[in-house]
Amino acid sequence: MPLTEMDSDRMPNHIAVIMDGNGRWAEARGLERNAGHRAGLENVREIVRASGDLGLKYLTLYAFSSENWERPKGEVSELMHLLEHFLEEDLEEAVSQGVRIRAVGRLDRLPPSTRTAVDKAMQATRRNTERHLILALSYGARAEIVDAARGLVRSVARGDLDPEQIDEKIFASHLYVPDVPDPDLMIRTGGEYRVSNFLLWQIAYSELYSAPVMWPDFHRAEFEEAILDYAGRERRFGLTGAQARSGSVKPPSDGVPEK
Ligand code: FPP
Repeated sequence: MPLTEMDSDRMPNHIAVIMDGNGRWAEARGLERNAGHRAGLENVREIVRASGDLGLKYLTLYAFSSENWERPKGEVSELMHLLEHFLEEDLEEAVSQGVRIRAVGRLDRLPPSTRTAVDKAMQATRRNTERHLILALSYGARAEIVDAARGLVRSVARGDLDPEQIDEKIFASHLYVPDVPDPDLMIRTGGEYRVSNFLLWQIAYSELYSAPVMWPDFHRAEFEEAILDYAGRERRFGLTGAQARSGSVKPPSDGVPEK
């Protein structure tokens, strides 16, 4: 079934992607690793556009992990350069397409020019509500949880919060982008089945999909295939199949206030 004819109830609202395999893609072609990252960036553009065409509301991309800082200097600086390039070159398109760009992670570690490009893109798109592109940069999920815990402890220390009041909703409201619903689908390219410290809190009930192809080869067709695979699954959220099929199941709260 073409995606355009798919029941819109079955379309995920939020897809998170671990864009793995740039290095292997390049090595298989006898190229340097950075050539793989450049091809990866071209594919980011393709998948962001495809998401818009498909009406996807939230897309989160794992662009740079906390662990990636340990990579060779030349690779880190190329990745920062590509990010800046993307944020500068594609900003106009994002603004006109109603895409709000946000970054999550320990952004204070970014080089000043990258930080400036990130801040500029967030500022220029802050009023957009149609679609959301979230870039995980200098991101680690354990660090995000630690940062949330620090925020809670600060509120308790100020006397604004009673520790007994802390529940999953309040905890989630201290994560980096608390208004963003949890991902319905998490895709990893490059054929691995690891979560790699990505959105550990938020993927509690996400469906996982591993694509065998490397990120630069994960094009629109492969993206649509992942969505169709997701659409064919039964999400149970811990209930029985019969309960899930009764139509009354709702995902456990992700902390986003109900409208
Ligand atoms: C993993 O491949 C990919 C990354 C560490 C970086 C992802 C970055 C991009 C796709 C380009 C820029 C992105 C944006 C959003 C502008 P890997 O190098 O770990 O591959 P390997 O496992 O084959 O070595």
